[in-house]
Amino acid sequence: MQEKKIPLLAKTISGLEEVLAAELANLGATDILKLNRAVSFTGDKWLMYKSNYLCRTALRILMPLFHFEIKEQKDLYDHLHDFAWEDYLDERQTLSIDAVISYTVFTNSQFVAQKSKDAIVDRIRERRGKRPSVDLENPDFRINVHLFKDLCTVSLDSSGQSLHRRGYRKITGAAPISETLAAGLIQLSKWDITTPLMDPMCGSGTLLIEAAMLAKNIPAGYFRKEFGFMKWKDFDSVLWEKIKKENNALISTVKLRLFGSDQDVHAIDIARENVRFTALQEDINLEEHSFETLIPPFDNAFLISNPPYDERMKLDDAVAFYKMIGNILKQKYAGFTAWIISSDLESLKFVGLRPSRRIPVFNGPLECRFVKFDLFAGRKGQVRIIE
Ligand SMILES: C[S@@+](CC[C@H](N)C(=O)[O-])C[C@H]1O[C@@H](n2cnc3c(N)ncnc32)[C@H](O)[C@@H]1O
Repeated sequence: MQEKKIPLLAKTISGLEEVLAAELANLGATDILKLNRAVSFTGDKWLMYKSNYLCRTALRILMPLFHFEIKEQKDLYDHLHDFAWEDYLDERQTLSIDAVISYTVFTNSQFVAQKSKDAIVDRIRERRGKRPSVDLENPDFRINVHLFKDLCTVSLDSSGQSLHRRGYRKITGAAPISETLAAGLIQLSKWDITTPLMDPMCGSGTLLIEAAMLAKNIPAGYFRKEFGFMKWKDFDSVLWEKIKKENNALISTVKLRLFGSDQDVHAIDIARENVRFTALQEDINLEEHSFETLIPPFDNAFLISNPPYDERMKLDDAVAFYKMIGNILKQKYAGFTAWIISSDLESLKFVGLRPSRRIPVFNGPLECRFVKFDLFAGRKGQVRIIE
């Protein structure tokens, strides 16, 4: 049977729209349109479940319910109150509102969330005699109210908790990169899964785990127990189990050559714990080393790393640190393709190698560059410097 076509919107990190659009096209989405930090597309319930389970660079999959025009503030309450929420949400369920506003009659997103919540709970109380309560931490229903100029779009959030929460990270390290960003960087780097890959400042191991999950076709949501749509009245558990079964059957047993090291033994302990949880011990080898003393475990391989940046981890001398990275790359990593992400745009220049690519991305609120260095081998085995 053909499922009903529905408009959907996947939210992402600024800089990953292209990668996400490609992921969605791969899943069979149509009418794909790249927006700012989001991609809109058309799908059906099957695609909504599937994109939640498989998209590595989506943060949330929203299902727009209705739009309306706002001329004055009271229009928000009135339109939200007119909608038949009782068809979607039970009075015993909990809800939370995520409000995003830009260029509107409202100046405070908290106020928009509050007014929207009032309209929804009033509506349900009038119809059912009881009202749902609010739970900001772990609600059954997340409703997204998006106001741009005079247009308001109200959507159901089919993901629940943000999809970067893959479910494999039990303990967090000092400054972990988000799983969604890590998965996006691996895809942007065009790493082909047969080349050995290393991260010499791997922290809790996120980049390596995401690389391994991508290479082995392990669904992004494989370790996650809950998705928002599971609480919806129309949740189709048979369809959901079928999607999981079909995609879990595609997990490959290919053996990977991934290596991670960090100078902090505590970080390596956390990375080991995460790798053990994901059962990737055969694919990811972890050791405690400083980058300065590490002997590269591979030749002509790929290096992707997220060194500390000034804003997140205080470096005594960021310039000297990035100079050191450049010197070590030149001395020991001839023949490698190296990618570094950093928000310390000034210090990055002190690596002293000319990047062949510079991709702007955001790590949370930090504007970063993901830069590529092609470390061509010169005659003496050292990196040929192209300035
Ligand atoms: C921003 S964190 C990396 C976070 C990692 N991507 C994750 O998801 O957990 C930077 C890491 O670099 C490590 N580090 C800093 N200086 C180092 C050095 N000289 N050699 C090796 N590791 C270093 C820190 O211990 C820290 O774990």
